[in-house]
Amino acid sequence: MPDTRPPQAPAPVHVVVLAAGKGTRMQSARPKVLQPLAGRALLAHVLDTAARLDAQRRIVVVGHGAGQVQAAFADAALHFCLQQPQLGTGHAVRQAAAWFDDDAVVLVLYGDVPLVRAATLQPLLDAARAGALGLLSVELDDPSGYGRIVRDAAGQVQRIVEHKDASGAERAIREVNTGILAAPGAQLRRWVAALRDDNAQREYYLTDVVALARADGVAVHASVAARADETLGVNDRAQLAALERIVQRRNADAQLAAGVTLADPARFDVRGELRCGRDVFIDVGCVFEGVVELGDGVVVGAHCVLRDCSLGAGTRVEAFSHVDGARCGDDARIGPYARLRPGTELADAVHVGNFTEVKNSTLGHASKANHLSYVGDATVGARVNIGAGTITCNYDGAHKHRTVIDDDVFIGSDTQLVAPVHVGAGATLGAGTTLTRDAPAQQLTVSRARQVSLAGWKRPRKGGQQEG
Ligand code: UD1
Ligand code: CA
Repeated sequence: MPDTRPPQAPAPVHVVVLAAGKGTRMQSARPKVLQPLAGRALLAHVLDTAARLDAQRRIVVVGHGAGQVQAAFADAALHFCLQQPQLGTGHAVRQAAAWFDDDAVVLVLYGDVPLVRAATLQPLLDAARAGALGLLSVELDDPSGYGRIVRDAAGQVQRIVEHKDASGAERAIREVNTGILAAPGAQLRRWVAALRDDNAQREYYLTDVVALARADGVAVHASVAARADETLGVNDRAQLAALERIVQRRNADAQLAAGVTLADPARFDVRGELRCGRDVFIDVGCVFEGVVELGDGVVVGAHCVLRDCSLGAGTRVEAFSHVDGARCGDDARIGPYARLRPGTELADAVHVGNFTEVKNSTLGHASKANHLSYVGDATVGARVNIGAGTITCNYDGAHKHRTVIDDDVFIGSDTQLVAPVHVGAGATLGAGTTLTRDAPAQQLTVSRARQVSLAGWKRPRKGGQQEG
């Protein structure tokens, strides 16, 4: 028989994130959920997952460092509720109960369990939509410290027993509670209101809702996470470091799968978003921050830091370069030891070499600044050669001024361009020039003390005697 019932809108998902705990073992002034993982707060990872589940509402329970946490997420569409004092995970969800709807499916996530994937949570939501309580469990070789999942002979979940309250036999159970669960809103509200704190820690355990569900005749589905690493929590710096490696390995694997060559996937860090074209090569020890785009065939040498930048096809960044807020065209050569700062725009085939810094400047097609230069607040045309040691003196102590260098200019080594100043097309500046006025097009401009040689001059000697 075909199903002729009118389609029903699925129950909305309301996510509650527990983030009130202190995180004492982090030894930090910063609330635990604000500690960075892959460059973003732990809580941001959890909220992203909630967004991927199309959560209609995201509720964050804050306590320790509540002001800091709220300030860090002021822009996000979140409902914060304060848990003060912190009397346990069940007490925390009780504080959030005013914010979730009876007809919603409520998913409880933990601010310090950042790696769980949306797909892993789907079975819990399905269970809750069917009126059951959905739990996420995981099998651990060493389950100590965790709440154990107690099942009956038929495999039905009976209850969760906290490590501190567990018997010897219960402690042998390797299936543990991740803490993550989903339930119909109305029931969850009732259960958290009924929790008691008669246990070893004198806390209101969220886990006790399992026994309450059973008493109500509600089915409990524990879905076992396929990968234990998704359910890892952060309690101390060592765990944070371990999770960082897991995230970075995931990032590396995603790039490898997309066709990027990584010299060593274990020495590769993305703290943001890295988009690569075809046949990109990345050597060891590189860090990518913000949004970085690498065109086809880009090569990034060892130990480079690239932040919020884009590199055109065929561009090479040699070792130990730092590129921040720059846009580079195709076939550019950058480094080794180059520094591109925000506002840098390089056209195709530009070369910026060792110990050259560029800031808030554009360099036209095929221009070169290969050695030891500072190019700041400058507009440089095409085919310009900037000699070694050239400095744009862009700052008078109070204001920044622009230097404009037209096409085909040749700047000799050790030149200072005192801005504001303009160098006309095809001009040549002699080495050592301190340019304080505009240089006309096509001419040689040089400011340099005339060279003299003194015949018969004697070099002074120690003791005041003169030679010979
Ligand atoms: C909890 C579970 C345990 C599970 C383990 C998985 C309970 C009673 N126990 O134990 O079964 O194996 O997680 O890691 O739920 N929090 C608040 N307010 C509070 C207390 C905690 O917001 O009053 C937050 C914490 O910030 C943290 C999370 O809840 O993000 C978990 O709290 P935690 O004290 O670490 O719980 P566990 O004892 O580890
Ligand atoms: Ca914990």
